[in-house]
Amino acid sequence: MPEIYDLILHNVQLVSLASEEDYGIIENAVVAIKDGDIRAIYEADSKQIAGLHTEQAIDGLGQLLTPGLIDCHSHLIYAGNRANEYEMRLNGATYQQLAEAGGGILSTVKATRQTSQDELFDLAAKRLSYLIDEGVTSIEMKSGYGLDLTNERKMLKVAQQLGRFSGIEVSKTFLGAHALPPEYKDRSDDYIEFVCEKMMPTLKEENLIDCVDAFCESIGFNLEQTERIFKKAQSLGLPVKLHAEQLSDLKGAKLASEYNAWSVDHLEFLAVEDIGALKQSNTVATLLPAAYYFLSETQLPPIKALRQAGVPIAIATDHNPGSSPCLSILLTMNMAATLFKLTPLEALKGVTINAAKALRIDDRVGSIEVGKQADLVLWDLESPAELSYRIGGNACSMVIKQGEVIVDKGVG
Ligand code: NIG
Ligand code: FE
Repeated sequence: MPEIYDLILHNVQLVSLASEEDYGIIENAVVAIKDGDIRAIYEADSKQIAGLHTEQAIDGLGQLLTPGLIDCHSHLIYAGNRANEYEMRLNGATYQQLAEAGGGILSTVKATRQTSQDELFDLAAKRLSYLIDEGVTSIEMKSGYGLDLTNERKMLKVAQQLGRFSGIEVSKTFLGAHALPPEYKDRSDDYIEFVCEKMMPTLKEENLIDCVDAFCESIGFNLEQTERIFKKAQSLGLPVKLHAEQLSDLKGAKLASEYNAWSVDHLEFLAVEDIGALKQSNTVATLLPAAYYFLSETQLPPIKALRQAGVPIAIATDHNPGSSPCLSILLTMNMAATLFKLTPLEALKGVTINAAKALRIDDRVGSIEVGKQADLVLWDLESPAELSYRIGGNACSMVIKQGEVIVDKGVG
């Protein structure tokens, strides 16, 4: 009996990203899908094509087919916005000054605490829809605007619900150590104790944590406090990642590598001598060019040295209301190329295979290969470099998640 596929996509220019060196293009390819997975990939002139049986067939009309895009660092769940702070910054205040004056992250904490789970779900689902429309099929979301048990739980439950109802996969990150809540003013060690001894174990028990993050920075938490969090996560069997070296070099990335962090993120102030530690621990360097852009930063991450060392580089939106109100992964790719001088191939890998590595889901997604999930995006474009080259305009024509069409704008 010949296998009957659920879906066959034919007449596509396939960008597999299955190779280390290049795009891995297969011109005029055919992808056969069953039970949500890629079962076979053929070149159209192959003799096997004639004998294929399928429930459904889609003609890609020669369009570009890439893996589903992955946003591996976002703070998508929150209430309110900080356009007023944007205006204050443009009148001379700095991001750090706003934070020190009780604005910044804490103003979003206030708004988020006052908002119900259902309302937060609606707000985040709306934001997520922009990303899905641009081909995002997996995303990471952090807590960190609750900063107490009830509200961190509320945020993580929204992330869990979005994973169930948005049609795409959500990785849930506990970022209890994002900022010091007002009720712990001048008692940051006590707050870290509460994060470690109360919130982390409770939320882990409730299956709401996939990974633990912290903001290691002068306006966040110091290296010692960060290590305390990592030790506790390790004892609970939870993996870690870190907001590191965004505004200064506190040696967070090096520490995170010692705890085999999934990724270290931002890295503008990463010292070149600490890159070896990342390589050794398979820690992904996640760059966030939209935050760099929006804060008008001038210090570039050590990209050449990361590249030379062979550290996988991921790119993410870092969507949040304070430093990156960016809801476009395509624009983020353009920024990675234009501002950080990543090649268009590196930018595309940054939002696919390397972002998958940053979430430790690269065994299932991130490239188009037999055995992986059928997370695929069709683009009305002629070459993969156009994904980074364009500024605005969304050429995505179809998004497929685990073999199901979740966005269909009509091919052709
Ligand atoms: O990744 N750096 C810390 N966290 C966010 C900013 C959050 C905020 O300003 O609300 C970031 O840039
Ligand atoms: Fe962030």
